[in-house]
Amino acid sequence: ITIRRATIDDIICMQNANLHNLPENYMMKYYMYHILSWPELSFVATTTDIDVEQDTQDANEDYMIMNDNLGNSIKLDPTYVRPGEKLIGYVLAKMNDDPDQSNEPANGHITSLSVMRTFRRMGLAEKLMRQALFAMREVNQATYVSLHVRQSNRAALHLYRDTLKFEVLSIEKSYYQDGEDAYAMEKVLDLDE
Ligand code: ACO
Repeated sequence: ITIRRATIDDIICMQNANLHNLPENYMMKYYMYHILSWPELSFVATTTDIDVEQDTQDANEDYMIMNDNLGNSIKLDPTYVRPGEKLIGYVLAKMNDDPDQSNEPANGHITSLSVMRTFRRMGLAEKLMRQALFAMREVNQATYVSLHVRQSNRAALHLYRDTLKFEVLSIEKSYYQDGEDAYAMEKVLDLDE
């Protein structure tokens, strides 16, 4: 398993994983906005162990049918970043928009994080998050980072509050489309971590 910076070539796979793992989905251009504006902040976890088909398999429901230049149709498996490399997790992160217009100090935001089911509880989300937080602080001098999480999301809450020491700042009522409340969480990015 490798953790590396996300590139524009990973976007289809990131979007595919997001659609598979979370009800909060984004248009392709929003992924591009993240990767093009802050190429240092988003990361992917991938595996080249393609025998480990198990759960990336059910993310394949939506094969994309493309035509090659000879007119043959080919099935594209959207879990493959490239032949032999499958995406198993990602963190999509950004800085605050328009820092010059707002008076707030530089701060980062975690837009989306997910890990494919069979690869959970191996520490991958923690590693992806730590990479993103480190880059926010070191590259962009972010003083804090924020995110939203569903109140019912026990796994993510454990990761953010207990493992990564985020604090609950407030509860945003009916933040999600289905009416569920969100915890708005923040973490100060200390220099000594
Ligand atoms: N229940 C309780 N604790 C859990 C669970 C769980 N189901 N899953 C992980 N944890 C704990 C781990 O034990 C670990 O705790 P520790 O530091 O005390 O040992 C900690 O959380 C981190 O575990 P990781 O192995 O790094 O987490 P994982 O790789 O399994 O990914 C994630 C966690 C991303 C929440 C995963 O379950 C997932 O993809 N869920 C679906 C998508 C999702 O909910 N994403 C977050 C939405 S919020 C947002 O995107 C801003």
